[in-house]
Amino acid sequence: MDLSGKSFAAQAARIPVQGIGLSVDVFSPDLLDLHWTLERIGSPPDYLEIFKAPTRELTRVRAALPGLPLTYHAEGLWLLDPAMRSATPWRQAVDTIARHTEAIGAGWANHECAGKQFGGYSFGTYLPPLLTDAAAKTVAANVALAQARLDEWFARKGRPGFAPLVLLELPPLTYFGFGDPSVAEFFARIAEQAPCGLVLDVGHLWTHWRYCERRRFRSPEAFAVDFLATFPLERVVQIHLAGLGLHENEESAARLPCLIDKHDEPVPDVLFDLLRQVLAHAGLTALKGIALEVDTKAIPVIVDEFALLRNEPACRRALRRTSRGAASFPVATHDSSGPATQRLADLYSAYARVVSGQDVLGESALASLAEGVDAEGLHRYGTRYLPHELLRWGGDIVELFPSIWKSLEKQGVTVMDFVRFWFRQSRPVIEQYDFFYIKLDRWVEFIGEVSPDLLEQVRRETDALRALHAELNDESAVQESPA
Ligand SMILES: [Fe+2]
Repeated sequence: MDLSGKSFAAQAARIPVQGIGLSVDVFSPDLLDLHWTLERIGSPPDYLEIFKAPTRELTRVRAALPGLPLTYHAEGLWLLDPAMRSATPWRQAVDTIARHTEAIGAGWANHECAGKQFGGYSFGTYLPPLLTDAAAKTVAANVALAQARLDEWFARKGRPGFAPLVLLELPPLTYFGFGDPSVAEFFARIAEQAPCGLVLDVGHLWTHWRYCERRRFRSPEAFAVDFLATFPLERVVQIHLAGLGLHENEESAARLPCLIDKHDEPVPDVLFDLLRQVLAHAGLTALKGIALEVDTKAIPVIVDEFALLRNEPACRRALRRTSRGAASFPVATHDSSGPATQRLADLYSAYARVVSGQDVLGESALASLAEGVDAEGLHRYGTRYLPHELLRWGGDIVELFPSIWKSLEKQGVTVMDFVRFWFRQSRPVIEQYDFFYIKLDRWVEFIGEVSPDLLEQVRRETDALRALHAELNDESAVQESPA
């Protein structure tokens, strides 16, 4: 694979400054409703970053908004996984990104530097990477591989140079984080070895202070000074701003509430302060866009918050100084079959089992990374967040299967039984990630074990749900060959 001619600087130079925009979902809220509302009041976004959706929906949006720059927020490429290349359908995931970015003419494809699947375990929301040198090397190798395949896909279509630039987003923490070096050093190591751009999400940055760094730094601002001195700012192509809030399963606000990244919640003042601090940094030389992330947010709140963002003088100032001095980089080659890769794969498996409460941290392979980990946060994740995720998130089991759930309750079966079953063993990853299908598969298997008399009923009900889901998410475009 020849990556020698690629460089971040060359790729980024092809992307025009996009301005101040919105990161959105096609359906929630309805994207065209939102856009026309903002246009009516004379405050349209300069660009939209659109979350993964079926190609036909993206094509529809592209046709409805001619002339508006569109970029892409990807999902389903598990760049953390040391076995991405050997044991996941990564080629199909990259080809999906290629089709979607082609449909909307996106200059970049943003993906969280986080995972929902690794070690054969699946989650519904993102877990951050383990912060180790080996993990950074793996992410760098995987992202370089994805970029190369995107380049090849567009070249095959007779459009060399039109491939989107892959951006890696600083991930959020949900109550804990594992590893050492710091997250800023982790990204610096990725940037040394891979051609990617980066997305700096200001709310995610706050969660790193809240759940990992608040003992070292008294305030988010103090943490941000240290972070900005190390994070590879010259690679930051986009900045995200979104809300923070309590998880649905959190009952009370403690002295320092356990806020997490929540796109349906308002953006607090502390994040606007952090945004100004980030934008004032002279190292930000490749910035192309600043986006308010608003999927699942009410349109009136979006209107107010977007007005605040548009009127923030620091945004225009930062975008004006862009595209100066972005450096080229060496691209590392990476052997993904050695013992170091196997050790990292074992660590990620242990990670999945520890956070899901199957293994005890101190007795697992992850113990070497346990120093400074928020034990209370880990407990909160395993006992409150994760059960809610498996039961309710992305398809509510209780609502979808009311009579079956009632029967299980009568037998004394609980959601924690479902969690334990889910993580009891790893499973090979064959299909492209779709949490709804994964959830239905696990659910049927679980019923087969705890209440076989309900198996026929659950199979009937899941078949109907699968058919409906397939119709709504039909990717009728031609699948690329897995070569
Ligand atoms: Fe984000």
